[in-house]
Amino acid sequence: MPGWFERADAELFSAIDLAQRTAGLVGDILEIGCYQGSSAILLEYLRRSNERLVVCDLFEEVTTTLDDFHDRTDSYSDLSQESFEVNFLRFHKSLPEIIAGSSTTLSSSNFKRTFRLIHIDGSHEYEIVRSDLLLAKSLLIPGGFVIFDDIITLHTPGVTAAVWEGVIHDGLIPVFQTHKFYGTWSDPLEVEIPEDFKRFAHDVCGHTMSHLEYVPGSPE
Ligand SMILES: C[S@@+](CC[C@H](N)C(=O)[O-])C[C@H]1O[C@@H](n2cnc3c(N)ncnc32)[C@H](O)[C@@H]1O
Repeated sequence: MPGWFERADAELFSAIDLAQRTAGLVGDILEIGCYQGSSAILLEYLRRSNERLVVCDLFEEVTTTLDDFHDRTDSYSDLSQESFEVNFLRFHKSLPEIIAGSSTTLSSSNFKRTFRLIHIDGSHEYEIVRSDLLLAKSLLIPGGFVIFDDIITLHTPGVTAAVWEGVIHDGLIPVFQTHKFYGTWSDPLEVEIPEDFKRFAHDVCGHTMSHLEYVPGSPE
């Protein structure tokens, strides 16, 4: 499956889901930036029958982006909605709710505060990630997690800036990070980190968070 969704994060998504399930949390799931579906396919496995999975993607070339990494590396082989749908239907019987367009057109007037998991993996531009973060803040329920991709990737300083601005000015609580940032706006649920991770604590901006290193086969 083309994409950038790593096994380490798949395990963490599942661990968060288990913690939410154990706490009796029910809520919807949103993904911004689904590309060919690798992370959305997992999210659909985490969805319960009384919950929705909503995905949003441009499904087309970005011409205005300041981030030319993907142009230089030609890393998006096929951005079509059709490819996403074909891949998704290889694993699931029906499609999620699909919004084709920029995440900047989404607003809290379209959605209610019903989301327990929000995965933000769309634009890397600071202004757009900032807008995605504020949207997530308005949609996430207590016990929910927001996850930002590319928090410490060389070509994505806009993501790093927008997310840490959210921590400093918008009450976002950092919980852990891989190359994704996992946070929340409420008391973080206790998540049992799978054995395949080594955990290192850090005091940052008044919070204690962990960075997690994935070392399969090596207990913490
Ligand atoms: C890194 S890919 C997503 C990868 C996918 N989540 C995975 O794990 O394989 C980024 C996606 O974000 C989409 N995108 C870029 N800017 C966007 C925007 N403003 N709104 C919605 N989607 C956007 C791109 O079309 C692309 O499909």
